[in-house]
Amino acid sequence: MRIVILESAESVSQRAADLFCDQLKRNPNSVLGLATGGTPVATYRELLRRYDQNQVSFEHATTFNLDEYVGLEPAHEQSYRSFMNRELFESVDIDLAQTHFPATLGDLTEAGQRYEASLVEAGGIDLQLLGIGTDGHIAFNEPGSSLASRTRPKALTQRTRMDNARFFDSLESVPKLSMTMGIGTILDAKQILLIATGQNKSKVCRKFIEGPVTALVPASALQMHPRVTVLLDEEAAQDLERADYYREVEAIQSSLENQNT
Ligand code: F6R
Repeated sequence: MRIVILESAESVSQRAADLFCDQLKRNPNSVLGLATGGTPVATYRELLRRYDQNQVSFEHATTFNLDEYVGLEPAHEQSYRSFMNRELFESVDIDLAQTHFPATLGDLTEAGQRYEASLVEAGGIDLQLLGIGTDGHIAFNEPGSSLASRTRPKALTQRTRMDNARFFDSLESVPKLSMTMGIGTILDAKQILLIATGQNKSKVCRKFIEGPVTALVPASALQMHPRVTVLLDEEAAQDLERADYYREVEAIQSSLENQNT
């Protein structure tokens, strides 16, 4: 994993937007894996800013979101479909028919299999954006999820529901069930970008970066992927034991990249 510690949450969103813009420049037909929640909002705002300045286009891109709540209408203010429409899709040139979410109606096991099939049909995800839950979840793969899991229904933990209650009127209104890509699905992405900001993510960042690979910390499975970038602000990085080493490696890596450009 490439661990990049940046001075602020703003720098994290700028660097994340750089990666998306580079990807779309290299391949305008890219398949992007997208995340919701509080952390990526600043990245989407930065992408919108660059779109407004004609620095990036989503015209030929296809997107797959990680997850969706079960039990909310797509038009519900807190559905992830509404979130993405509001935060990104409605303000850029993306074709909404090319934006995908796991279905949350009917037979959920079959809906998961259909989502997997459409991912394969699209050629797989080129760049997957992830946040991380305070309990170590990625997408809604809660602790204990199989490291080989595929898209399926998954119950949310009380902790995740409490973390997400800030977006709802009350804890009771937070759905108990989600449809989520599995950890195996996420690991199939060609490149992965995880972003984490703020002090409340510092303990879990230490666990998934420096601890053992374990289903109890689902994000630790990313240690098995050959192409993962983790962007952290200083607060999220404050508990890392080897922060100095990551900074040294990053300084060398960036100077090599600058020589090549
Ligand atoms: C959302 C998702 C979740 C969030 C995680 C962190 O699509 O997959 O795993 O990334 O819950 O959420 P925030 O960014 O709100 O702390």
